[in-house]
Amino acid sequence: MIDDLCKVVIAELDIHTFVETGLFEGETISLVSRWFSELHPDFGDIESMLLSESSGVNPWNTRIPFPIFAETSKKSEYQLISVELDEERAQKGRALFDNNPNISIVKQSSEEFMDIFVDELSGKSEKREGVFFYLDAHWNEYWPIKEEIQAIDRLDQYVLCVDDFFVPGRPEFGFDVYQGLPCSWQTLSPWFRDSEVQIYYPFRSNRDNRGWVLIFKGYSTQSLSFLDSLPLWRWKSWKSKSNPQELRREARRTLKTIKKMLTGRRN
Ligand SMILES: C[S@@+](CC[C@H](N)C(=O)[O-])C[C@H]1O[C@@H](n2cnc3c(N)ncnc32)[C@H](O)[C@@H]1O
Repeated sequence: MIDDLCKVVIAELDIHTFVETGLFEGETISLVSRWFSELHPDFGDIESMLLSESSGVNPWNTRIPFPIFAETSKKSEYQLISVELDEERAQKGRALFDNNPNISIVKQSSEEFMDIFVDELSGKSEKREGVFFYLDAHWNEYWPIKEEIQAIDRLDQYVLCVDDFFVPGRPEFGFDVYQGLPCSWQTLSPWFRDSEVQIYYPFRSNRDNRGWVLIFKGYSTQSLSFLDSLPLWRWKSWKSKSNPQELRREARRTLKTIKKMLTGRRN
């Protein structure tokens, strides 16, 4: 589930397109569609809310409210897209959001979608507006995050939020481990190739007690200064080729903490 702090990022950076990978029950898309409706009247007016029978995966999660948009909602320049591999979940999501033409639910494996989506975006000659990617497609044997990132990183500007992420110094925030690979900067960093990115971690876990991260590419320090007033801390600006030693040091530190944590869990 996306954290509320992302709403500030979306507003401040005038994000026009929000792309989620992994829809599940549509909780994040429901929330983000409410943010977009509030921030941009032409995205669609919410007429009422429907309290569904679905809830998230944790016992403390409550039933998910879905907005019902006015029939007059028209195509706007603000768009939400969620990509889901599971046919049933995608169909259910389409039914919930088909009252707004600015919300698209795509049934596809996310790395395939991302490859095509980024190509189309890169080919646009006019100025591209801000894009926010929220990566949350997992649970199956194949974890698409490497291919998702490699596609996204072909863009020269983006905001990327990864859920279930290892936050340094806060191993108690939940994070995923797939086939021995923790969802952490140590794992992801080689997939950014030559990019220079700014990395921000949260001081708090999200609603599901999970860690997460925000990664920015192509934004000036000044345009990101609003982040200083949020409960986020700037890890560093990271440039792949310039600091291999730092990367190795960071990898060793992260692995040590994760090993300690996993051993602790088993005891
Ligand atoms: C953690 S849930 C997503 C939760 C959702 N983002 C939210 O915040 O409410 C993970 C979802 O990813 C989907 N998924 C797994 N592998 C995928 C893939 N390769 N492409 C797209 N979706 C995938 C699963 O079917 C599942 O619905």
